[in-house]
Amino acid sequence: MEKKSTIPWWNTSFDDREVSALAEAVRARKISQGDLTAAFERRVAELLGVPFAVATTSCTMALYIAFYAAGIRPGDEVILPDRTFIATAHAAQLAGAVVRLIDTQRDLPLIDPGQIEAAITPKTRAIVPVHLCGRVCDMDALRAVARKHSLLVIEDAAQSIFSRSPWGYAGTVGDVGCFSFGMAKLISTGQGGMIVTSNERLHKLASVFRTHSVADTFHATYTAFGLNLRFTDMQAAIGLVQLEKRKDKIAHVQKLYELYAAGLASLPRISVIPVKTSEGEVPNYVEILVDERDRLVDHLAQQGIDTRPFLPCPHRSPHLRQVTDRFPNAERFEKQGLFLPSGPSQPVENAERCIDSIRKYYDR
Ligand SMILES: Cc1ncc(COP(=O)(O)O)c(C=O)c1O
Repeated sequence: MEKKSTIPWWNTSFDDREVSALAEAVRARKISQGDLTAAFERRVAELLGVPFAVATTSCTMALYIAFYAAGIRPGDEVILPDRTFIATAHAAQLAGAVVRLIDTQRDLPLIDPGQIEAAITPKTRAIVPVHLCGRVCDMDALRAVARKHSLLVIEDAAQSIFSRSPWGYAGTVGDVGCFSFGMAKLISTGQGGMIVTSNERLHKLASVFRTHSVADTFHATYTAFGLNLRFTDMQAAIGLVQLEKRKDKIAHVQKLYELYAAGLASLPRISVIPVKTSEGEVPNYVEILVDERDRLVDHLAQQGIDTRPFLPCPHRSPHLRQVTDRFPNAERFEKQGLFLPSGPSQPVENAERCIDSIRKYYDR
């Protein structure tokens, strides 16, 4: 019998405001990258308090452009945590870099600053902190190592737009930061990404890279490598509306996180992976660690509740062969991690039903 899923693991929605903005853009023939994209970039930069933002097709490509603009070239090495979506590693590989993975912290799926120095070689050029699910990495520690070894800090903040930390917004603290506007993100334009930086030179390189490094199509000259990685005004029209909704979205995902954290607190076999909502971190998802995860997944699926097990660790990829296979912390997250139903349009009742169902499962 086919199981019916009534609660999706992720829920976001677009309403008449996005529909009108999109229709208006199309009517005005604002289809490809133009004024609306520039307005979207300005607004993101303004809200994050950075001078420069460059929109592109995805966060994967934002990271690739960032690596390329920052001068990462074949044979260079970059250091990444072993808990991230594989896109981070692929972007580095596309720039020709060798990916060096290191383990995460024990209790948080974030890069362990204490393990970075052992992975540094004369070829190392950059550290890539990945701020997973709104949790901001320890930027003091990372910047100290980066300064000591003259390394770049390129932040993967795909899952963390508007997440606050003692150092500022995620993505705005290092040399460059990258965001995703994919479907399962707080601010979505369907697909899309953004690079932010305070470095004018990097900004100039990144913004022309998306148009084959041709800055002026009337007096065109071919001066440097580039690609067609333009954003579109149709996406920007949607994105501008999404930005206006950011406060409600943030408040809602924080509320869902708090609800789950309180509702599951008394269950010894489950722990909600912490997000510091009181300090302004924005939990893009609700993530738990649970023993015998697959049994809980099956139980919830039978109740019509859709969940997502964590993705594999990047070190599993044969094309990312590593010098070590010792990633005990990252592997624990991989084995026990589960996304529970969340998202900016996930009704509170759905979270309550999920909590109730989990509690009943363990009360049996
Ligand atoms: C941590 C992380 N980095 C990079 C990406 C890639 O983003 P995009 O799908 O916009 O290319 C994602 C996407 O989910 C992600 O979660």
